Amino acid sequence: MKPVLVTSPLLPNLNEFNELLQEIWDSKWITNNGSFHRKLEAALCEYLKVPYISLFTNGTLPLLTALQSLRITGEVITTPYSFVATTHSIWWNGCRPVFVDIDPSTGNIDPDRIEAAITPKTTAIMPVHVYGKPCDTRRIKEIADKYGLKVIYDAAHAFGVEVDGESVLNAGDLSTLSFHATKVYNTIEGGAIVMHDPETKRRIDYLKNFGFANEVEVVGPGINSKMDEMRSAYGLLNLKQVDAAIEARHQVAIRYREALRDVEGITFFDDMPGVRHNYSYFPIFVDAEKYGMTRDDLYFKMKENGVLGRRYFYPLISTFSTYRGLPSATKENLPQAHKMADSVVCLPMHHALSEEDLTLTISQILK
Ligand SMILES: Cc1ncc(COP(=O)(O)O)c(C=O)c1O
Repeated sequence: MKPVLVTSPLLPNLNEFNELLQEIWDSKWITNNGSFHRKLEAALCEYLKVPYISLFTNGTLPLLTALQSLRITGEVITTPYSFVATTHSIWWNGCRPVFVDIDPSTGNIDPDRIEAAITPKTTAIMPVHVYGKPCDTRRIKEIADKYGLKVIYDAAHAFGVEVDGESVLNAGDLSTLSFHATKVYNTIEGGAIVMHDPETKRRIDYLKNFGFANEVEVVGPGINSKMDEMRSAYGLLNLKQVDAAIEARHQVAIRYREALRDVEGITFFDDMPGVRHNYSYFPIFVDAEKYGMTRDDLYFKMKENGVLGRRYFYPLISTFSTYRGLPSATKENLPQAHKMADSVVCLPMHHALSEEDLTLTISQILK
């Protein structure tokens, strides 16, 4: 029996992709701001309802470049409850991450705890819309404005997420996306930065191309992170089917919620009012005492029976060797994040789950 995987990539129609590959072969323009790259940037601005976007080769380099473009130094306030790339980008910029605990009702950085973590060295906040659930962007903006801090959202999970009809990607100074194969929308590997104005886009476009402003001028310590034409063409095709994929995920979420609502010791998030969710993940939280089984026992039992959930985001970033010596990394400072990391299992969630997949997954938790 084939295992039920936590995710499955959204793949474009192969014949349509072949046609676009033929165009690329004919043009012999395979990277460096080609026509598919430009078309994908325009199409994403329209789909995501954002004014400017710059494509990247993955979702980690946008984080590194965003920090670099705003010349962030010193300390950056962030969450330990994320994928490790968030904090690595701060470290690679020579800055110190300062961990702030999460709000258990969302899994996102707790705005009430941010001010206490600000020091004279703080220059930025890097929150994460974890699982695609929007952060409290209004509160975070108030704090950032009060202390003169920049805000860079790691929006790797938040493709297409809207609050009251507006893209969550328009919050903050910059937002970054990942188009990795595991995400709701993918370009195989890929990512982007969303910005508010053409000057910032131009500077970020320079930075992702070694800092070149023209043939002879390098305006900063840039990197190479340009998306190529093949992946841009693939991304254009995937954009046509992402709405249907999000709707299929929505149906999976409805099914899980109906089946698991009354299971003692199992909790999950419901939709937030006014939010267009993308259903990128379906985390459940296990209260071992009430459920009668620990999270790990459930996780390994599921695995044995062919249901491959994932314990995103366990272990916490703050426990990894690079970060565990930081003063903000102590367990006492991060009780809610530890609790969530120790109780979470993400159930299989993607556009192609079959009825049998869902029945098998649900039966593992009901048993
Ligand atoms: C929150 C978060 N940030 C950053 C990344 C890095 O993106 P990528 O894998 O495309 O480099 C990921 C995921 O992979 C992520 O989940």
